Amino acid sequence: MIDDIEIREATLDDIPEITSLFRDTVLKVNSRDYSEEQVKAWSSGADNIKKWKERITKFYFIVAEVGDTIVGFSYLTKGYYLDGLFVHKDFQRRTIASKLLRIMEAKVSINGFDVIKSDVSITALDFFDSHFYEVEKKQKKSLKGMTFENYIVYKEL
Ligand SMILES: CC(C)(COP(=O)(O)OP(=O)(O)OC[C@H]1O[C@@H](n2cnc3c(N)ncnc32)[C@H](O)[C@@H]1OP(=O)(O)O)[C@@H](O)C(=O)NCCC(=O)NCCS
Repeated sequence: MIDDIEIREATLDDIPEITSLFRDTVLKVNSRDYSEEQVKAWSSGADNIKKWKERITKFYFIVAEVGDTIVGFSYLTKGYYLDGLFVHKDFQRRTIASKLLRIMEAKVSINGFDVIKSDVSITALDFFDSHFYEVEKKQKKSLKGMTFENYIVYKEL
């Protein structure tokens, strides 16, 4: 547990830190559940700077910081869809994702929705289960010519 986690909205200046966190977490943490080929393809999404700019400017995108280091981030699309939740590989299991998720759930309620939805990796399923999310279905998602198994989950707020 860390006490001094600050959460704020992301800015375009955060892109280098956000993309390197994303790349490292996919390569080091998601590699528990996906093949080397899969995590290589997935993590290469870090290079699509245009897309990260779009996510930060168009969506509700928050970062968690400890001191000057970004240790997690999350973003919400359509007002209710949690489209990304990633924690720094060296700061796993220290409640960072739980804090980001609490803020996202509150934001979804403020936006006037009573259900939050997401599609989540095999790696994140136990985390969402521990936060009382239900599995709607298991699915196969295609990304960069590769197939990824993941789950659509939801929670009534
Ligand atoms: C899933 C993820 C976001 C969780 O972040 P985190 O900051 O480590 O999660 P927290 O510390 O808030 O976890 C809170 C609780 O969730 C549960 N939990 C979290 N990770 C878990 C795991 N790998 N296995 C089992 N339970 C887990 C535990 O109950 C945990 O409490 P505990 O540590 O006291 O046992 C993080 O592991 C991650 O970045 N994974 C890779 C990226 C990813 O797959 N993101 C999902 C979107 S595709």
